[in-house]
Amino acid sequence: MEMNVGIIGSGTMGSGIAQVAATAGCKVKLYDTNQAALDIAKLALEKILNRLVEKGRIDTAEKSRIQDNISYVDNLKALADSNLTIEAIIENLDIKKKVFSELENYVAEDCIIASNTSSLSIASIAASLKKPKRCVGIHFFNPAPLMRLVEVIPAIQTSYETLEKAIDIITSWKKTVAVAKDTPGFIVNRVARPFYGEALRIYEEGLADFATIDHSLKTLGGFRMGPFELMDFIGNDVNYTVTETVFAAFYFDPRYKPAFTQKRFAEAGYLGRKSE
Ligand SMILES: NC(=O)c1ccc[n+]([C@@H]2O[C@H](COP(=O)([O-])OP(=O)(O)OC[C@H]3O[C@@H](n4cnc5c(N)ncnc54)[C@H](O)[C@@H]3O)[C@@H](O)[C@H]2O)c1
Repeated sequence: MEMNVGIIGSGTMGSGIAQVAATAGCKVKLYDTNQAALDIAKLALEKILNRLVEKGRIDTAEKSRIQDNISYVDNLKALADSNLTIEAIIENLDIKKKVFSELENYVAEDCIIASNTSSLSIASIAASLKKPKRCVGIHFFNPAPLMRLVEVIPAIQTSYETLEKAIDIITSWKKTVAVAKDTPGFIVNRVARPFYGEALRIYEEGLADFATIDHSLKTLGGFRMGPFELMDFIGNDVNYTVTETVFAAFYFDPRYKPAFTQKRFAEAGYLGRKSE
């Protein structure tokens, strides 16, 4: 589907989503307040595409086509001609709200305004808009170009038309859409909590060590990565914070209780792979 897509935030998620949209033929404007983040995103895309060329997955013409579809911009106004904007900035409601209310001054009335938030409610984000009907959650997973699933989350304010359009666009980007309700963690991050939480409890009860738990889940459970391997990959700080947020958001339901083991790892700076 050819269209203009504005992406706000050129970090891990924003740059990945830009690649997905550009590959699907959209004209993408990738915006960040930090020039260094834009430079890094551009360089990272060059490296990723070079690797794909080396592996024979794409040719150099395809590489140029994808790169030409993305422009890197340092002002929000440049996103004025967007049909869809996806926000992927810092996970802070006040900062997101400020960006959304400014953005709404520039874009057309029928532009869909989406957020990639993992833990904030879409209803609270939509409430910052004059036209909350056009707001929807579009939640990609990391790394966005590789992960097939995308959750699309209508807020109670979202119009049916906005939801339908969002589903159509994301499907045309060759992603599988799961429509989720606007509840903490949506589907995947909620289902994932007990995967980590129960593994941490098994360890804390002295039943098995990290490696044995991972080994069991991989060989017997068929998971590609064990829970500790995954915590190590995501980062203990990030993973712990999500657990704490979901726990609080579910009014401290003990099923989602965080573990001291992971809290101490995070406090000690033993974050996982990224600490090496
Ligand atoms: N990292 C993940 O695994 C993951 C997965 C799914 C969803 N998310 C969500 O995606 C969003 C972004 O996460 P990330 O990991 O890509 O973050 P990140 O820190 O890698 O990137 C955020 C970018 O936003 C920019 N930014 C901050 N404030 C801005 C502003 N006011 N205007 C424009 N740009 C601004 C920063 O300069 C940075 O480049 C968050 O809402 C997060 O919850 C993250």
